[in-house]
Amino acid sequence: MRELASWLSGDRRPDTFPYDAVGAEFRRTGKHFVAKELLVQLDQARRTALAPARAPAADRFLRDFLDVVLDKFDGRYDYQTYLGLSLLRLPDDVDSVRRRHDELTVQLIADALQFELAAASGATELLPRQRPGLKLVTKRYRLGVRAFAPALSRLGLLTTAAPDPAAAAAQLSEAALTRQEATERRALSASMLPVDQVHDEYLFIRVLQGYETTFAALAVELGQAVADVTAGRPDEAAERLAYARKLLDGAAPLFSLMATVQPESFRAFRVHTEGASAIQSRSYKRVESLCRPPDQSRLDSAAYRSVPEVRDTVLAGQPSLAEAYRAAVLGGTQERLLERRMAEFSAALLQWRQTHYRIAVRMLGTRPGTGYTEGTPYLAAVRDLPVFSSEREGT
Ligand code: HEM
Repeated sequence: MRELASWLSGDRRPDTFPYDAVGAEFRRTGKHFVAKELLVQLDQARRTALAPARAPAADRFLRDFLDVVLDKFDGRYDYQTYLGLSLLRLPDDVDSVRRRHDELTVQLIADALQFELAAASGATELLPRQRPGLKLVTKRYRLGVRAFAPALSRLGLLTTAAPDPAAAAAQLSEAALTRQEATERRALSASMLPVDQVHDEYLFIRVLQGYETTFAALAVELGQAVADVTAGRPDEAAERLAYARKLLDGAAPLFSLMATVQPESFRAFRVHTEGASAIQSRSYKRVESLCRPPDQSRLDSAAYRSVPEVRDTVLAGQPSLAEAYRAAVLGGTQERLLERRMAEFSAALLQWRQTHYRIAVRMLGTRPGTGYTEGTPYLAAVRDLPVFSSEREGT
């Protein structure tokens, strides 16, 4: 690639790296089909250009980007690199978690809507295979608007939407992206690296990233709730739990969007996503283990073996809400409030698992998962694991 060759023969400054040109080439062919020569050039960039920092933030992004684009080349392709999660600046800090969740959510969905709009009007040739029909796309406009409306309104970006779904999607996604900073734009573009050229993979990737944003935020909220209970602030913990539940319930339209992915498209691109499965989602397992310590059998199964860093944290004694709640000395009213909030969060997570299971059955049937489990039988077995108690409740 000319742009990369010229960068390699220049002073190789991280801030002048041709992200757009490299990303565009990956999107033109699909990550699975990128020319060997380009991968060799990128490998060269990685080996020679990543000398100790001149501009540390830019260096970090370049390192992460090269890590993401060279995953298949290195034979370590997985869920983190498929979704480019290291590029996205997921919410990870208690002071900024709510705002960051909302900012990233609206950008991801706005971008997905803009792709649908561009494809429907013939303005892009990106991912040209198996374009959806007008009816399906219109449904996506509606669901997309529903999926980011709460976050848009919390950010003060919600303008009155036009009644026509396409016009509303265009208007709101533009509103969401107008104030985007250059680094955000770069991250959004760099994190869209489909494996193939099938239209629906774009939506598939953005929905997964959207849920990752939600789970990352939930992990921060729950981690703080544990600290609050331990420090004798049960009311604050109850508020965190209520907010976490609101985010999880509010993300439900993302599943509705996922359900619009055409099963034949899903089956076409998943041939090349083998090895990348959400069983490797760190944020999801953080959420689960912050509620209560997983049973030993689950800790030793693919569920936690697929997220070794989370498993290590659990084994190192990560505190959980169930344990903190049991140890806390609470007044009657506080105890009842906290218990209610825990029950509500638990119901929301169980609902999430049930919906996820239904979608997986619809898309996969009896095929195995890409995370080397037997697929939906695994999900059926884990979907009703109790969230806070260590014993199965009810039926
Ligand atoms: C086409 C839609 C989807 C299908 C067919 C699907 C299928 C599966 C399957 C078969 C598994 C079991 C592990 C494996 O072998 O891969 C799994 C696990 C998982 N999926 Fe999905 N999934 C879909 C959408 C999603 C979405 C949108 C999310 C949101 C992030 C998600 C999150 C998860 C999580 C967190 C796990 C691990 C659950 C656990 O270990 O208990 N999935 N999925």
